[in-house]
This record gives sequence, C-alpha cells and structure tokens, in this order.
Amino acid sequence: MLLDVGGLVEEVVALYSRSAAVRRVRVESERKSTSLVSGFRGQLIQVFGNLIRNATEAAPPDSAITVRVRPVHRRGRSGVCVLVLDRGRGIPQSVRMKMFDPFFTTKDLKGSGLGLWVSKRIIAQHDGTIRFRSSERAGLNGTVFEVFLPTADRPAVVQLPSLRSVAEKGTSEEKSGDEEELPLKAAKAN
Ligand SMILES: Nc1ncnc2c1ncn2[C@@H]1O[C@H](COP(=O)(O)OP(=O)(O)OP(=O)(O)O)[C@@H](O)[C@H]1O
Ligand SMILES: [Mg+2]
Repeated sequence: MLLDVGGLVEEVVALYSRSAAVRRVRVESERKSTSLVSGFRGQLIQVFGNLIRNATEAAPPDSAITVRVRPVHRRGRSGVCVLVLDRGRGIPQSVRMKMFDPFFTTKDLKGSGLGLWVSKRIIAQHDGTIRFRSSERAGLNGTVFEVFLPTADRPAVVQLPSLRSVAEKGTSEEKSGDEEELPLKAAKAN
C-alpha cells in the first residue's frame, strides 16, 4: 500500500498526545511533505506508536518531545525520515545492548519489551533502517530515534507497442516482461 508517512505519523501523534499530556509532556510535531512509501499501515503505526510512547515515558514532566517527518537522501536512496526526540535521562550502556532483544524491558509489568524488537523487524521488512543516539550527560541528556523508509519504487510502466510499430520494428517482449517483474520483487521483500 502506498502511504503518506507524514499523515500517518500525525494520526499516531494525535492518538498519544492525551496520554503524554497526562504526564505533562507536550508533543511538538514538525512535518514537511514527503514522497510516498510502500508499506503496511498497521505495522508502521506500531513502530511510530512505540517510539512516541517510549519517548513520552522517558521524558521528564513539563518537557516536550519532538516528532519530525522530513524528506531525506540516504546512501543514494531518497526516502522519508521520522525522528522522535526526548529530553529524558538517556539510555545507559547496559540497556542499549539489550533494548532490541525480545522481552527486554526496564518497565516491569508496564512494558512487554517487544516494542523495539518488533519495530526493528518491521522496518527491515520495509527496506528501511532504525537507529538511535542517546546521551546521559547532564544538560545534554536525551534520546533520539530515527527511522528511514525508502521512497516507493515508481510502478513499472508497461508500454505496449502500438500495432504500427510492431509491424514496422517487431516486438521486444522480453524487455517489457522484465519491467513487469519489478513490483513482484518489491512485494516479496515485504
Ligand atoms: N526514549 C527512550 N529513553 C530511554 N530508554 C528507552 C527509550 N526507548 C527505549 N528505551 C529502553 O528500551 C527498553 C525497551 O524498549 P521497548 O519499546 O522495546 O519495550 P518497552 O517500552 O519496555 O515495552 P513495550 O513492549 O510496551 O514497548 C525500554 O524498557 C527502555 O528501558
Ligand atoms: Mg516500548
């Protein structure tokens, strides 16, 4: 499915800003228009929902978290970057090593510890990347997670030769056959 990630993130922000407000955390969202991404809506809602929830839970009261969507180029690929930033305590080294493991949580009964583990898989299936940077240094403390999703491949244009050009030049069936396989390959990766 072709998705507008900015719109999707906006919906997720709306969903979680109430629980953020209960913790006296503001959600500041910034959004530039971006290209469409090919993906599974429900899965990406899980990813962004978890990142926003994690940031909200890490943020101190009376602070703001930032959720930013913008177009980017990454290693020759164009795509969409979603950044989620909080001014929490930062992630200790011992947690960084395990936080993408299944069932690893520091939230006792309040967390299942599946959020980041599932997210990493979902993003990989979308041919994207997820990375983070975190600091525990007083004054500079906080964490930023960044998800990159590549722009959807343009649908292959299957050009049927006109009868007249067939009569004049013959067909090139193999070539158009190749072009038709592109979307299938993309579908397999998902
Ligand atoms: N923004 C953040 N700031 C500080 N620690 C974080 C942040 N994001 C994740 N973590 C740490 O990583 C751990 C794993 O996060 P993950 O989202 O996978 O699980 P969880 O939030 O504990 O539970 P849930 O399954 O409900 O998401 C968290 O328990 C927390 O210790
Ligand atoms: Mg979580």
